[in-house]
Amino acid sequence: MFRLSKRLSLAASYVKTGSSVCDVGTDHGYLPVFLYKSGICKSVCATEINEKPLNNAKSTFEKYNADIDIYLCDGIEAVPKDKIQTVIITGMGGDVISGIIDRAPVLFKEGINLILQPMTAARELRKYLSSKGFKVCREEAVVDTNRVYSVMDVSYTGVSYTLSPYEYRIGILKPDSEANIVYIKRQKRLIEELLKKLENVPDKRDLYEFEKKALEQINNYLG
Ligand SMILES: C[S@@+](CC[C@H](N)C(=O)[O-])C[C@H]1O[C@@H](n2cnc3c(N)ncnc32)[C@H](O)[C@@H]1O
Repeated sequence: MFRLSKRLSLAASYVKTGSSVCDVGTDHGYLPVFLYKSGICKSVCATEINEKPLNNAKSTFEKYNADIDIYLCDGIEAVPKDKIQTVIITGMGGDVISGIIDRAPVLFKEGINLILQPMTAARELRKYLSSKGFKVCREEAVVDTNRVYSVMDVSYTGVSYTLSPYEYRIGILKPDSEANIVYIKRQKRLIEELLKKLENVPDKRDLYEFEKKALEQINNYLG
């Protein structure tokens, strides 16, 4: 067997035993094969919007003798409802992930788990989730091949909420692991760079104050 990346291993560790899992935008197909072979899921399927990665995934399924259905579609559009209990969306931009969720009304339901790992635009994804009533129940960072990622375990509650400047940047990460601290310190550096750029831009004053508050909260948090 292959060794799953640390990023995908963390996402896989959020899958609840006995759930029906769909890996959206699977590409190489390693995550569904790993879950299939682990035997912890009731069922495992995958989707792809592009034919080339769909064929990559099919080759992986064949190579590892994994009987996994794969659908060529946008998000979970073509997936039968009974196969959707846990939906994993990793390795895409936060905006792409938000779009996939937004076009899938079936996900706006209590009892469905979303496991999300944005490559970029995590802030925008957090904003989207908070505005649509998705609660981030668990979130951890992971350092993998010199990059730091956040993995979120998300459930729909229907109750929207407002993010503090800190939560917008860091989500619910606590400085209680090495990877989380790496993530938080990275955000701190990004905010400092942004504040320098915004310092003398009068019409970006609100953004400046918002990010300044986030920085203060991060500094308090890091101690
Ligand atoms: C960078 S790969 C990530 C692969 C894998 N999920 C991972 O995390 O390593 C992103 C994949 O998502 C697929 N994708 C992008 N938008 C999609 C959508 N709306 N529905 C299904 N797949 C999509 C792309 O074709 C691509 O293969």
